[in-house]
Amino acid sequence: MSKADKHKSDKKNDKNTSNSKQKDVLKGPRMTLGPVSSDAYPYDERLKRKLYKAEKRALQIELLKVQHWLRDSGERLAIVFEGRDAAGKGGTIKRFMEYLNPRFARIVALDKPNETEKGQWYFQRYVTRFPTSGEIVLFDRSWYNRAGVETVMDFATQEEVERFLVQVPQQERLWVEDGLHLVKLYFSVSREEQSNRFAKRAADPLTHWKLSPMDAVAQEKWDEYTNAAEAMFARTHSRHAPWTLIRSDDKRRARIGALRHVLSQLDYPGKDSKLIGTPDPLIVVDAERLIL
Ligand code: ADP
Ligand code: AMP
Ligand code: MLT
Repeated sequence: MSKADKHKSDKKNDKNTSNSKQKDVLKGPRMTLGPVSSDAYPYDERLKRKLYKAEKRALQIELLKVQHWLRDSGERLAIVFEGRDAAGKGGTIKRFMEYLNPRFARIVALDKPNETEKGQWYFQRYVTRFPTSGEIVLFDRSWYNRAGVETVMDFATQEEVERFLVQVPQQERLWVEDGLHLVKLYFSVSREEQSNRFAKRAADPLTHWKLSPMDAVAQEKWDEYTNAAEAMFARTHSRHAPWTLIRSDDKRRARIGALRHVLSQLDYPGKDSKLIGTPDPLIVVDAERLIL
């Protein structure tokens, strides 16, 4: 069976088991990345720099209010940044961190698991990095590696991937019930834009390090990654831990959209709801709206 066929048949199985076995998972027809992975990006031009800067500043001020609230209340916030290579996770994380007090905000960007970690419970190395009271943790990739790179590159067995997809909604429910504020973002870049970004990175000594052996096959395995992401949404989009897609061909709009979405999900003193408003629905897409 080819890889693509394997995914298709996996997905068929998902359909039969996911809704009946996993009460946590939101019901609904199979979701698709179609509308967000097509080249029909909704804007012809990038967001103007001036407007980008003004919006970013206003939203970063709100993010500081979030940090104050977390500090005062002892609440915990984890934000998951997922998406293909060069989707813009790193650049967005940088803008989230820009003005935060680094004593109470951290980035977690784990390398591939070492021998000790491989011997542990799969979630273990992520859970130990969770925020303590008052903290913000930004996950640059996360436990969802198992549903993405590990699935596509066969770093995990089919059984391990299946177990993971069953367990994620259960795990996340326990974490959220325990008080963790969890936001899951998936950055969606088009195939053409990913290719352009790889070329730019290769040509620039400041970003060369971002290229890895994984990236070399990202274009070639584009459809496998799409299938894996669709299965991930279908199995792990839940009421307590929903997925939100950020269309990220325009980095500026993606960053503004991500900031706006995260702020809109939190309730904190002094929140300027009018300023935050509703994220641009063409850029910030609730995973439920992916239903065909
Ligand atoms: P990034 O896109 O995060 O800069 P890479 O493209 O090199 O990094 O790798 C993507 C993800 O795949 C990373 O989270 C990395 O830890 C993971 N990864 C790479 N090789 C392996 C492996 N052999 N087993 C498990 N995970 C791996
Ligand atoms: P940045 O780090 O966001 O300032 O941008 C890095 C590079 O990506 C710059 O050279 C931008 O010109 C380019 N870039 C970002 N978004 C787009 C886009 N939508 N179309 C073309 N180039 C872009
Ligand atoms: C980024 O553009 O920062 C990426 O999403 C990180 C990567 O290349 O994997």
